Order: sequence, then structure tokens, then C-alpha cells
Amino acid sequence: MQTVNTLHMLRTALAQLCGQSDRAGGRIALVPTMGALHEGHLTLVRRAAAEADHVVVSIFVNPKQFGANEDLDAYPRQLAADAAMLEAEGVALLWAPTAEAMYPAGFATNVSVAGVSDGLCGAARPGHFDGVATVVLKLFNQVTPDMAFFGEKDFQQLAVIRAMARDLDLTRPHVDAIIGVPTVREADGLAMSSRNRYLLPEHRTAAASLPRAMRTAVAAIESGAAIGEALGQLEDEILAAGFSSIDYVTLADSRSLAPLIALGSDPARLLVAARIGGTRLIDNMAVGPARG
Ligand code: PAF
Repeated sequence: MQTVNTLHMLRTALAQLCGQSDRAGGRIALVPTMGALHEGHLTLVRRAAAEADHVVVSIFVNPKQFGANEDLDAYPRQLAADAAMLEAEGVALLWAPTAEAMYPAGFATNVSVAGVSDGLCGAARPGHFDGVATVVLKLFNQVTPDMAFFGEKDFQQLAVIRAMARDLDLTRPHVDAIIGVPTVREADGLAMSSRNRYLLPEHRTAAASLPRAMRTAVAAIESGAAIGEALGQLEDEILAAGFSSIDYVTLADSRSLAPLIALGSDPARLLVAARIGGTRLIDNMAVGPARG
């Protein structure tokens, strides 16, 4: 595996991998990450390897998606350990740009996807999805992948990136080649996240109540329970389990993320963000006959 950290090195490495322009050397899959890799990321890498000839992983802790009072400085950084994991997975190329390579002096562009970015996590983290869309569009333009893989764990992020690709007619990758991979969970059901490491043991145990309560709510809604009642019951269970506060509990259309008051024929998603022991956890699950 080659590790590169300047745009010039990246372009040279990509040309070596698959030819200057005709891609005769094969299809490239990009897995964008911020490092601190865990089994969830490695699942994306394996899925990418199954579908493309070469896997490129990016590691960049993107300052533009952190708010002023968020954990940018504390965000775990472990490039050598991450690189070893990726090497063992047979990744061809690791793109680990410096902040200067990604945002040179004078950088002034902001990519903003209105609507789908605004509610849910966007409401609690103003500017977060602009930061995500800006860096992901840059990563797409830098690597020009045939396909890109993202975890469904960050469901709103995936919706924002797909909306951006659709709106801007992206071709590398095309919106249909932006692949969402189902959330990887710990044995007790907690969605894997780099932030789980911040949980104290007692909070870590209680955190597993979140997916359990969500599964109960999904089953209730699918069996015809009133949505308001099922969501209210879910909120009560989350707080009873030891979460200190809830940012949102909502049933939404899977594509627009607009709140739903009834299940229709389009895919729906149950989405939750809640805090436990100072750590904000998010999770989501498909709901309804279409199970999208
Ligand atoms: O999901 C992440 O790790 C980040 O938001 C991403 C997509 C790599 C952009 O910085």
C-alpha cells in the first residue's frame, strides 16, 4: 500500500494504478474516512474491494465539519495503526492529505446542500454538513473514483452526499455509485462509532439500550402503532435507560429526511440522536414494508 499526502503524489499514484485517462487498469473505489478505524470502516473497505479493482481510502480529520465547541482537537488520530489495518485489507492507496493540501491559503468555497442538511444533526451542528459536502466533493474531484462507499450509520450524511451528487450531476462517482453500507454493530447491538471509546463502562452498557428500544419502536410502527405514540414511548425508554437528553427522535422519508406522520410506500427511516455521559450517539433503522 502506498501512502500519499500531497495532490501531486496522489495523481502520480492514481496514474500508476489505472492509467492516465482511460482507466484501462481498472475501477477505483473510494472509502472516505477520518481515521480511528474500526470494524465499521473495514466493512466498507471489504465491500469496496469486492466491487472494484483498486480501493483508495482517505483519512482526513476535516476541520470544516467540526463546530467551535466540538471535539476537533480531541478527535482520535492514529495514522500508523490505521495504515497497518488498511495494508492488511489489501488497500492499494491511502490518501492522507495535510490540512494545507486540502485547504490551501485562500481557500474560500463552501458547498451547501439546503433542505436535507438543515434538520436532525444539522440543527444541532450548524455548518456541519456544509463541511462534509465541501470535503467530500473535494475528495471526489481529487480521487475521481468510479464508486464511493459510506456507512448508513451516518444516514443524514449519506443523504446529503447523494443529494449533492444528484444536484451537481457528478460523474465520478455518479449518484448511483454512491453506496450506503448497513451499520456494523457491536455484539450487544450498539452501532460502531469512533466516539464509543469516550463512553465510561456504565454508559457503554446503558448505550446498548438505544438500538434495543429502537427495534421495539420499529416493530410497533410496522404493526400499525400510531407514530407519535411509538416515538413518545421510544423517548421514554431512552431516558429511562440512562441517556441524559435527546436531540431528536423522528420517523423520516429516507431520501428527503422530511418528517413522516404515517408510513407510505416510500422507504422510511427511524433516526435518533441522544446524549449519554457527555457523548452524543446517533443511530437509525429502516422502517416499513419497503425497508429502504
Ligand atoms: O464520515 C466521516 O468519517 C466523514 O464525515 C467523512 C465522510 C470522511 C467526511 O469528512
